[in-house]
Amino acid sequence: MREPYAVREAGLPDRVTVYEVGPRDGLQNEKAVVPVEVKAEFVARLAAAGHRVIETTSFVHPKWVPQLADAAELLGLVEKVPGVRYPVLVPNERGLDRALEHGVEEIAVFASATETFARRNLNRTLASQFEMFEPVVARALENGLRVRAYVSMCFGDPWEGPTPVGQVVEVGRRLLDMGCFELSLGDTIGVGTPGHVTALIGAFGGPSRLAVHFHDTYGQALANTLAALRAGVTVVDASTGGIGGCPYADSATGNLATEDLVWMLNGLGVETGLDLASLVETSTWLAARLGRPSPSRVVQALGETPTGGTADHDVKE
Ligand code: HMG
Ligand code: MG
Repeated sequence: MREPYAVREAGLPDRVTVYEVGPRDGLQNEKAVVPVEVKAEFVARLAAAGHRVIETTSFVHPKWVPQLADAAELLGLVEKVPGVRYPVLVPNERGLDRALEHGVEEIAVFASATETFARRNLNRTLASQFEMFEPVVARALENGLRVRAYVSMCFGDPWEGPTPVGQVVEVGRRLLDMGCFELSLGDTIGVGTPGHVTALIGAFGGPSRLAVHFHDTYGQALANTLAALRAGVTVVDASTGGIGGCPYADSATGNLATEDLVWMLNGLGVETGLDLASLVETSTWLAARLGRPSPSRVVQALGETPTGGTADHDVKE
């Protein structure tokens, strides 16, 4: 079986935008450095599979995330397809300067909902992270860029336990009030469950301008996504092949796999514009480059055994 049987569920959106994070969230967490040409081909294959938004890389400190230190070189290699957005992560003004130098049109800032993760991921306190983002968002908007925002650790944090819903809403509202067009609710370590998702979206007063970003550590990402869709969310982050994690949160594993998401959405009759077979082929190709199989269940069910490359000759340790 190559496609699910489609049965519509009343009340779900007709169309969902899949915000692809594989090249950024996926590859930032690889132990080995993936060659820049492989990254460029990955991005090109994602656009060819129908993605209209591909988070391509990060202009963070290269010592903090050496896996993405080739951000400028990568942007030089990516052949932009008309109609496709290629946002990049930017934490501070230095990152914004680099993004502007390289013709970036959309950025994403990323805040923490908890004190410990703000310190570990951004070297800032929960309160002082906003002083870092404010001039970034203001200058980006002045320069005509679109700015997305993330809040990480929205459900729980490995050091502080469950994150109070009110704390997430406070951080998220501040980012939206700065002028960010969209707020992605990040379950960085995958500890959310569907009722918690519904409660959090409700605490924001509904789905307006919200996106969801689930990591699949405990196998809840798809169930959590369905809860978000039922609450009216229409933008879902996912990574092709289910690669990913956060180098500053040990317990983070891969994102929700784009293929698993698309299989469910096809089954629900919700349009994405994505070609499932092309995504699976890309994940099989990438798995050969990374030297290990994709964790996605749909890729495992539909994919061929990876051939044509090994970690030895495609990936520099
Ligand atoms: P810092 O050390 O406090 O930086 O790091 P600083 O402002 O003190 O600057 C120190 C030096 O670094 C200066 O150089 C700066 O120019 C340079 P010097 O003057 O000493 O020669 N510098 C930079 N160089 C290049 N690019 C830059 C940059 N910034 C400063 N952008 C900083 C603060 C925020 C930079 C650092 O903590 C950082 O890069 N953190 C990023 C960590 C990261 O990327 N984590 C993964 C992404 S988040 C994630 O995955 C979660 C998400 O997926 C959602 C979810 O799952 O929840 C989004
Ligand atoms: Mg993430």
